[in-house]
Amino acid sequence: MDASRDTISRKVLDWYDAHARALPWRAPPGTPAPDPYRVWLSEVMLQQTTVAAVKDYFAKFTARWPTVTDLAAAADADVMAAWAGLGYYARARNLLACAREVAARGGVFPESEEGLRALPGLGAYTAAAVAAIAFGQRAVVVDANVERVVTRLFALEDPLPSARPAIRSLTDGITPDLRAGDFAQALMDMGATVCTTRMPRCLLCPLAADCRARTMGEPERFPVKAPKKAKPARQGLAFWIERDGNVWLVRRADKGMLGGMRALPDDGWSARADGHGAPPLAGRWENGGRVGHVFTHFSLELGLRILEHDLDGDPPGPGEWWPVDRIAEAGLPTLFAKAAGLARAEMA
Ligand code: ADE
Repeated sequence: MDASRDTISRKVLDWYDAHARALPWRAPPGTPAPDPYRVWLSEVMLQQTTVAAVKDYFAKFTARWPTVTDLAAAADADVMAAWAGLGYYARARNLLACAREVAARGGVFPESEEGLRALPGLGAYTAAAVAAIAFGQRAVVVDANVERVVTRLFALEDPLPSARPAIRSLTDGITPDLRAGDFAQALMDMGATVCTTRMPRCLLCPLAADCRARTMGEPERFPVKAPKKAKPARQGLAFWIERDGNVWLVRRADKGMLGGMRALPDDGWSARADGHGAPPLAGRWENGGRVGHVFTHFSLELGLRILEHDLDGDPPGPGEWWPVDRIAEAGLPTLFAKAAGLARAEMA
């Protein structure tokens, strides 16, 4: 790299001043930092999730729980239901644990990266992002967009994921002492709008002249990825049980897939094993078709079984009857929302 750290960061910040995306959790470039609660909430939501998907959830959460103290006081079930559809549900459980810890400290977030990192469920990425964006600290913030920009800038040949320490140190080398939060968000915006996975718009890039991958004529080759392991394909069943216009819903165990979420009863499938196939009660079960869902570490084909007759009492074990015509309000995660859609179509 011919250009010094200062030249690179100056070009990036100048670009940000002109092209920053206006996002609801952001302060415009160069203006005082936004509310740490909003920064933290948005960063947790944005992990593994696109800006487009997050916007409505962010609006919903901040309208309903305007401060971290409000969120800390919410019932677990309400927060889990409000999170439904965003995926990676451990984030919602950690979000609540963290909000309660911050509320116990008077509703004030720690300002340092180390202090933030010590909060429940706050990983290295989120701690760095909040320290930089909400508190103006110099922190090295690396998400998937930043990885793409940086591996291209330096034409880093090491494959992901083992390249991560090298990417971090290269990012450290170009992060400025001042405006580290704007710098991080600038790289994210460049990654999202210019340095895109496919067909990057190098002509619009402020670092075009510095970018080794571009000089080599093959920006799309970076980041280099280690060959993917095939995902295991799992099979499972979910069960639709009705009584008087209500459907039986259970709450999933706190630990494990979709932990703490409302769900249809199922046959115990997990990331590691197929379901056992047995229904929760004896009866006449109709085949209601199946839905597919791809999780991070496996894909699942979920068959739906519909009890052909209304039940008299309750199924065994804990659960609740939920009005079928208000199923959209149950806060079912996407997998079970798809299955519920199938059941209703089947019975229409
Ligand atoms: N992705 C994660 N955090 C982000 C942010 N602050 N701005 C834009 N995209 C993001």
